[in-house]
Amino acid sequence: MTVDTRLRCSICGNPVDGDGEVCADCIADGRAERELGRRKFLRNSLIGAMGLFGVGYLGLALKNLFPASGPLGKLQNIGPINKFTNNYTLIDYTGAGFPDGVYVRQKSPGVIQAFDFHCAHLQCPVQWNSSLKEFQCPCHGSVYNANGQHIAGPAPRGLWPHVVKIANGNVYIGGQID
Ligand code: FES
Repeated sequence: MTVDTRLRCSICGNPVDGDGEVCADCIADGRAERELGRRKFLRNSLIGAMGLFGVGYLGLALKNLFPASGPLGKLQNIGPINKFTNNYTLIDYTGAGFPDGVYVRQKSPGVIQAFDFHCAHLQCPVQWNSSLKEFQCPCHGSVYNANGQHIAGPAPRGLWPHVVKIANGNVYIGGQID
């Protein structure tokens, strides 16, 4: 039995003479050009998709590397202190430069707590359960107590607190503190 050791055309699979990747027939009838163009398109599409995916993760990474903490997050007046009770209210915080949510409550008279609503695991928005007095993440089950401390699930830490200031009877929240 003889073994055919010739190279094969990468399009039709027929033997190729010399060291070409594509046979003469595929070149002659235009198949080579169409196939190579398709491969180039697929390769460029893949690179483009990876780029978009990367930009999404880059944004998340930048948020974690440079959280809008203290001086980087603008103070936002969220209203008079007497509107806050012991139960958390979700506030739209616009001072970070990206859409953010902050849970705010008056824990005891004059003491305000503010926690970022992003889960410390993979950043899903957590929900405050006022009956159980805990924050619950719908994505993978992380749970935090009313002081933002991690008590269950895969999150590696507690919720991120935000800067809080009280002036002239109003509450201001600032950026996330790491
Ligand atoms: S994102 Fe919250 S537990 Fe995974």
